[in-house]
Amino acid sequence: MDAIRIEGGKPLVGEIVIGGAKNAALPLMAAGLLTDEPLTLTNMPELADITTMGNLLRQLGMRIDQSALGAGADIAEAGATGRTMTLRTEKIASVTAPYDLVRRMRASVLVLGPLVARHGEAKVSLPGGCAIGTRPVDLHLKALEALGAKIELKQGYVHATVAKRLKGAQIIFPKITVGGTENVLMAASLAEGETVIENAAREPEITNLAECLNAMGAKITGLGSGTLRVTGVEKLHAARVPVVPDRIETGTYAIAAAITRGSLKLKGTRYDLLKAVFDSMKQAGVEITETPDGIVVSAKNGLKGVDVMTEPFPGFPTDMQAQWMALMATADGASMITETIFENRFMHVPELTRFGADVNVHGTSAIVRGKTKLSGAPVMATDLRASVSLVLAGLAASGETLVNRVYHLDRGYERLEQKLEACGATIERVGGG
Ligand code: UD1
Repeated sequence: MDAIRIEGGKPLVGEIVIGGAKNAALPLMAAGLLTDEPLTLTNMPELADITTMGNLLRQLGMRIDQSALGAGADIAEAGATGRTMTLRTEKIASVTAPYDLVRRMRASVLVLGPLVARHGEAKVSLPGGCAIGTRPVDLHLKALEALGAKIELKQGYVHATVAKRLKGAQIIFPKITVGGTENVLMAASLAEGETVIENAAREPEITNLAECLNAMGAKITGLGSGTLRVTGVEKLHAARVPVVPDRIETGTYAIAAAITRGSLKLKGTRYDLLKAVFDSMKQAGVEITETPDGIVVSAKNGLKGVDVMTEPFPGFPTDMQAQWMALMATADGASMITETIFENRFMHVPELTRFGADVNVHGTSAIVRGKTKLSGAPVMATDLRASVSLVLAGLAASGETLVNRVYHLDRGYERLEQKLEACGATIERVGGG
């Protein structure tokens, strides 16, 4: 099993190109099930989760053609590099998302809405437990039921069926859910009549999906707000849509600049995608400037501790919580980090303390007492964002860090070592671990 070895303690200086968002690309790929015409996605990231989703969608009857990295047209179109992927599902060949795929990647559940809307049937394995909490799909199921789907749970699978077409309905989510909002948006696009989604998630990835569905002929209004109105259409058609820049990759490299007290230019991304994190970074004393093609992040010693609380967009994202904790461990003074989205999302804490970080967890909050100097250690990655927080701590720490179980990183960070190495980090992938 691969590990990442880091010789830390060097300020990072240079330029990093931000890719398309994994969490936007996954639902956009699922949207390809909604039509028999081609859906072309540009600025696609190259990640393990994208490969897993591709394998699932192929099983369901989708044909996927990919072009090489950085095709000229994409650069002009999306202002960024990335692959172009053309998806075409002339016929649904299977309606089953099997356990071994859903277990590996929870986003597989996003095929549920499109399959039942276009084909009248879907069988999707329940995701089961997950490293960061129970993460149920009850809200996805209730919403699809409201649209007229019959839902049965059998042998660990959700079996959703509808005799004719789904019917528009009013859906009020009792809790904001990104995946739930995406499943309903896709299903409602092909339903009969109007669907109103209240308390919808407002993440940029949702807006990207709604824009894609509209480009395919759907009628969705209220983009970016908590109320989405969808007027269903009988058929969707071909479209070409760019994937929004990855705000979590952006934030992770912004923290890499700050934690090493360096300066990085992040190209192909946008400030507004991550305002809550940038505002907190500025409060901590990090300098952030917007440029026409991205953001420049620079920091010097003497950063201050700043409290944050994770919230749905536009709040501070839970997917940046672990990275923030690594940064706060190097700041002067204490900070409190409160996690409100997922239970059990402090698994990086015992690993961060191996670097000398002073962190105490009390229920859903963690108190970080900052120290300016961390020292390298062998550590173990537990999930995607937790593992990158260990890489960040390793970049700041003096001496050698070995991050084990890095397959988690490959799910969401494209060419991480290469991007960091180009900015002066001593980092390499090694076998074993
Ligand atoms: C998405 C992101 C993930 C991010 C999360 C929150 C993707 C592929 N993943 O995950 O990176 O951390 O949003 O920003 O986009 N919940 C229920 N019942 C449900 C659905 C959700 O109780 O049916 C709960 C969850 O357990 C969690 C909260 O709602 O506590 C938010 O989850 P949700 O927004 O659905 O997260 P995901 O879409 O799984």
